[in-house]
Amino acid sequence: MCGIVGYLGKRNAYPVLIKGLKRLEYRGYDSAGVALLTENGDLRVYKTKGKVSDLESFASDKDTTGCVGIAHTRWATHGEPNSTNAHPHISYTGNLAIIHNGIIENYAVLKKQLQEKGIEFKSNTDTEVLVQLIEYVRTRKNFDLLTSVQVALRAVIGAYAIAILDKDDPDQIIAARKSSPLVVGIGEEEFFLGSDASPIIEYTDKVIYLDDKDIAVIRRNKEVEVVDFHNAKMNHDITKVELNLAQIEKGGFPHFMLKEIFEQPDCLRDCMRGRVNVDANNVVLSAIIDNKERLMNARRFIIIACGTSWHAGLIGKQLIENYCQIPVEVEYASEFRYSNPVINEKDVVIAISQSGETADTLAAIELAKKRGAFIYGICNAIGSSIPRATHTGSYIHVGPEIGVASTKAFTGQVTVLTMLALALAKERNTISNEEYLSLIAELDAIPNKMVELLEQGEKIKEISRIFTYARNFLYLGRGYNYPVALEGALKLKEISYIHAEGYPAAEMKHGPIALIDEEMPVVVIATKNVLYEKVLSNIQEIKARHARVIAIVSKDDVTVKNMADAYIELPHTMECLEPLLATIPLQMLAYYIAVCKGKDVDQPRNLAKSVTVE
Ligand code: M6R
Repeated sequence: MCGIVGYLGKRNAYPVLIKGLKRLEYRGYDSAGVALLTENGDLRVYKTKGKVSDLESFASDKDTTGCVGIAHTRWATHGEPNSTNAHPHISYTGNLAIIHNGIIENYAVLKKQLQEKGIEFKSNTDTEVLVQLIEYVRTRKNFDLLTSVQVALRAVIGAYAIAILDKDDPDQIIAARKSSPLVVGIGEEEFFLGSDASPIIEYTDKVIYLDDKDIAVIRRNKEVEVVDFHNAKMNHDITKVELNLAQIEKGGFPHFMLKEIFEQPDCLRDCMRGRVNVDANNVVLSAIIDNKERLMNARRFIIIACGTSWHAGLIGKQLIENYCQIPVEVEYASEFRYSNPVINEKDVVIAISQSGETADTLAAIELAKKRGAFIYGICNAIGSSIPRATHTGSYIHVGPEIGVASTKAFTGQVTVLTMLALALAKERNTISNEEYLSLIAELDAIPNKMVELLEQGEKIKEISRIFTYARNFLYLGRGYNYPVALEGALKLKEISYIHAEGYPAAEMKHGPIALIDEEMPVVVIATKNVLYEKVLSNIQEIKARHARVIAIVSKDDVTVKNMADAYIELPHTMECLEPLLATIPLQMLAYYIAVCKGKDVDQPRNLAKSVTVE
């Protein structure tokens, strides 16, 4: 969702900004723009609807000189995606340019007040209000830019990361954040800005992660100064980013999503490294060691998350309840935050988020914190807002996920939840030693089984071709595989735009069976576990209604293979670990169907990678 890039230094800013925007394309956007302070002292703004490549074509015959600039990819919230609403926005004097990620909640009131003072607006955006307000304060009060930004931001309600250029001061960029991420990169006599570190790492590994209500003053030949809205100095350490370019490039794959699907064996090895110890026969999570009493004595766990992370939470619930004997609730963060939940200091809230920036999850954390709960974060993006807002947590360590459809983050989240359940169950003595040891050995074997599974890629591609025609899909699973069915359906709808629903298999006859006919393919996870016989009956019921069945089956299965129209074999594993394998063919099915339909797999329409607005 909206990407910010900034540059001030000795290079030509334009290529740095364009490359930076391309690195942020994965976040999802519908228009792009750039503002440059050119060599002859002009403030030039170029913006277009569409992709960064459209912006490049548009600017190809224009003046793109200058060593200072800001650039933006916009994901429309207020006002349709077009070149007028695209950022940067210019103040009424023509002197200031702003880019913004987030939402100004009280923009309508502020806009009305400014209009009453005779200020005209060009766009329908909330962002333009911000730049006009800053300019109004500056010109009316004769303040410098920093003071004007401070005064304006004190009047603003909402979430934002912003960067501002001033035509009359080509040696400065001012940036600020509240509830939207912003990173300052520090190079040799040059500075960078990014919504995350990906546009920066090519040039420097030294960054400052801004905190809420920080304003960074970036000046040529000076150290970055960080102050708050009242001009108090904020101290920040310069952090070294542990991210390399190979991690954010496609590495020979046609899409990031496919690369990330295939990375999963290695990702899980990284996720378990030093945590699942087969030689020592233990599972160690430092967050559990450091907060043993708090976690052992939890009255209840509440898992909060959105989308795919919520699906991982549903699997986490079963793992924790089965092995730790602690009740678990799983809530959509967006519902939880407005639900007046009954929570107290005996509750532990587990917040799951790939990006670590999801606005609803962050707000839910703040609410739970206020009510005394202890917060455990499970995130991927290192240094993002959620890990910084929680009391403790475990990173999933699967590397940057660029494809908008989450794949490796899901299996990473489920792996961390499995480790958490096992480590806690051991402490609480709620798991038998035999089962604990078998689970450790089996968890350790999962990456190799994933490799075996990924070898069926060509077969899954073939199956996908056959089913590209469908307009609706049903996904069924039970027990640990019910959230897998939900996740499979979400993957398909996100990237192929085919309507898909996930259901617990036994619920089929309570409604969805009415939809089943020869036009509706049904994907059934029918592995040989305790509920196998029950799922077999569901398949009979589907076949009796002439629908085609794609079954995910255990390798040695004969019965389902004979009943299904197509099947994908899963290597054997313990029941609670099946989601780590069963999800992979569903990710591939969705991927290949979307490719067959010619869809933009990595940047599906209307979707954003990190949902930083409500
Ligand atoms: O970064 P988060 O895990 O907090 O994101 C939550 C959802 O927005 C995310 O999982 C979304 O549903 C994905 N597009 C799923 O593929």
